[in-house]
Amino acid sequence: MKEIIRKSFLKKFKSTPKLFKSPGRINLIGEHTDYNDGFVLPASIDKAIYFAIAPNNLDKFRFFAFDLSEYFETEISEIQPAKVEWVNFLLGVIAQFVKENKQVPGFDCVFGGDVPLGAGMSSSAAIECGLAFAINNIFDFNFPKLDLVKFSQKAEHEYAGVQCGIMDQFAVMFGKQSQVIKLDCRSLEYEYFPFKMENHLLVLVNTGVKHSLASSEYNKRREQCEAAVNLLRKYDPKITSLRDVTLHLLEKHESEFDPVTYKRCNYVVKENRRLQYACEALANDDFNLFGQYMYGSHKGLKKKYEVSCKELDNLVKIAKKTKGVLGARMMGGGFGGCTINLVERKHVDLFEKSIKKSYKTPAGEEPEIYRVVIEDGTSLIV
Ligand code: GLA
Repeated sequence: MKEIIRKSFLKKFKSTPKLFKSPGRINLIGEHTDYNDGFVLPASIDKAIYFAIAPNNLDKFRFFAFDLSEYFETEISEIQPAKVEWVNFLLGVIAQFVKENKQVPGFDCVFGGDVPLGAGMSSSAAIECGLAFAINNIFDFNFPKLDLVKFSQKAEHEYAGVQCGIMDQFAVMFGKQSQVIKLDCRSLEYEYFPFKMENHLLVLVNTGVKHSLASSEYNKRREQCEAAVNLLRKYDPKITSLRDVTLHLLEKHESEFDPVTYKRCNYVVKENRRLQYACEALANDDFNLFGQYMYGSHKGLKKKYEVSCKELDNLVKIAKKTKGVLGARMMGGGFGGCTINLVERKHVDLFEKSIKKSYKTPAGEEPEIYRVVIEDGTSLIV
């Protein structure tokens, strides 16, 4: 793929680019916890967006989205949100460098790859982090990686209109081969955990439903969590996020909540706890127990956080009935995208067969299935 992107660049812009790679991400457990200052357990994977990029000595940024075969250019002095979604991921990143008083000179860029769009693998974070990393590199801006993560997250907030947490961009940038990252989204302290694949595999199944509802419902969930924090702060001014809320406190004040907000908070508080237990299970190589927490997470996302959809639920139901599947749940923002399944290696073929037999996408096709390989995060290739 990287060769295709490089060749496309040569053909289009006729200069020699630098090449970068920026992967998609999975998340094992800890969903919708990042913007509540909680914990997440993501990893970067072997599906990536590749960037070919070079300064152009013009007052222009010129982009070619290879997979869509779409071109966009703008004057460097005219950075502002655009109508085209993919353009916003890029301009949003440039805008952050500008805010930090960096003059970003004109450049040309071709990008494309194999992270499926709208499948919950964070293609947008891959694009944002890839461009942030590339600009930082080719213009020697020397921002630390954590700053680039924050630029990418802000691009999403300010240009794409999604008030996302930090998980996706962090995982894409800090991912490490064969490791999952336990990230504390409050302190941003993190720890790598080896994910042993000798006997188990992580398999993604794509519902074929693009999560179009995701951004408006996502922002709504975030507001509901904030409203709950405001309510509980009356009882303890130290509470600044749902991270600070215990189940005991929440239950004690249940009657003061509207039932929907209560359900949302109950899920988040429990999911944080589940993640801690799940990490202990992983440290003890107890994949059976880990899988149980994945099912628990899905149940909460479906019933209490209400971000699942019938296709995701259906895939989890099929997985649960299939031999060798230890855990399954929806992954990412929800309303479509993929399920993540923990499957015994010796039963993966059977699992794939049974999914293909029992599930068809809304377009009536066999679902796409991906066996996950955990690889390094955003990096320079050459
Ligand atoms: C999206 C957001 C993340 C995170 C997940 C849900 O992927 O970008 O910040 O909130 O949803 O866990």
